[in-house]
Amino acid sequence: MNLLRRKIEQEIRDAGAIPFSRYMELCLYHPELGYYSRNAEQFGKAGDFYTSSDVHAVFGRLLARQFDEMWRVLGSPERVDLVELGPGRGLFAQDVLGWSRKKFPQFFCALRYVLVESSAALRERIRETLRPHLDSGKAELIPLYPLEGQLSRDAPAIVFANEFFDALPVEILSPKGSLRIDARDGHFIETWARSSPEEMEFIDRYSVHPEMDERIEVSLVAQQFLDRIAAEMRRGFIIAIDYGYTRHEQLAGRHRGTVKALRQHSISDNPYEAPGDQDITADVNFTALAAAAEGHGMQTQKLVTQSQFLMGIGEGNQFADAFEECRLPQERAKIALQLKHLVTPAGMGESFQVLIASKGIEEEKVSALCGLNFGRSR
Ligand SMILES: C[S@@+](CC[C@H](N)C(=O)[O-])C[C@H]1O[C@@H](n2cnc3c(N)ncnc32)[C@H](O)[C@@H]1O
Repeated sequence: MNLLRRKIEQEIRDAGAIPFSRYMELCLYHPELGYYSRNAEQFGKAGDFYTSSDVHAVFGRLLARQFDEMWRVLGSPERVDLVELGPGRGLFAQDVLGWSRKKFPQFFCALRYVLVESSAALRERIRETLRPHLDSGKAELIPLYPLEGQLSRDAPAIVFANEFFDALPVEILSPKGSLRIDARDGHFIETWARSSPEEMEFIDRYSVHPEMDERIEVSLVAQQFLDRIAAEMRRGFIIAIDYGYTRHEQLAGRHRGTVKALRQHSISDNPYEAPGDQDITADVNFTALAAAAEGHGMQTQKLVTQSQFLMGIGEGNQFADAFEECRLPQERAKIALQLKHLVTPAGMGESFQVLIASKGIEEEKVSALCGLNFGRSR
């Protein structure tokens, strides 16, 4: 018997049917039994999914190049805080720190890397991966948001999140109301409650009203998260990379009902199977995230695809960051395939989008960043 299922059933017996967001939160983040809490084996070939950093170190290397440019746009300050939300196993941080030390020594010197990871098992894994950087004080590992005090009053910040917002709990709305999860005879069943004014306001502003047999996600947690970061940010950037959509795309009929469960690289639309053993995600509403940033005086740039973003960063030196250690043609061919996976539509290139928000920096300098200018340099 699945232990987490029993705990969720117990909570439902005690408190009545729970919102879908609470169900998702327990499945992913229950302190001992949640999907991200149990162990650190979710990622990569043997796990349930690949993220860009599992594909190849070039993802972190290209981003290091972009962070170095952002640091220079900020006026090459003596210190800059790079805050990574939900770093998972810490592979991205390892790639960024390693490449920055080698290629961008002045940026590396100014850099303080803060990893914000809520899973104790993943923090343990990060401690192993990044031990030298943590021991030297170059990197710092903290368990939880809020970040109060983590964004320094004096130093500018770059907040980075890859596949973070899609892993935050969402509400689900249909014409019947807001989804609740009840338990009966050992099964979870769906019931509906009246939608809250907050949920209705969210879909009025950033999404669309669900039609017959449709479901729409309401990502209040993600929006509040970004709202708090934008409020605390004095000067700097936020970069969020994820699969998702804009309100405009929803109006065109796409991205409705995007909650998915993932296990051993296969997708299911049944989040009630094996709680805690499978990942649950929802596409990210970029319109809502951008609005949260703009609400605190941040400027947002037009979304670019991961493909445009990485090509923009890499085209200047023909992706030397990827091929540097290759000695043999076979090695080059292997890396070319991995790079292709990150940038082509069939891989992650078109489904992932990049949101960049900035505060306290001249607009012309932000819009001239290499990641936002693929093809314009020729
Ligand atoms: C899908 S994983 C992405 C991991 C990593 N960014 C990558 O690209 O490989 C989402 C991560 O966010 C973490 N997370 C979720 N909610 C969090 C929160 N409130 N504070 C910090 N980390 C959180 C999870 O534990 C998990 O490591």
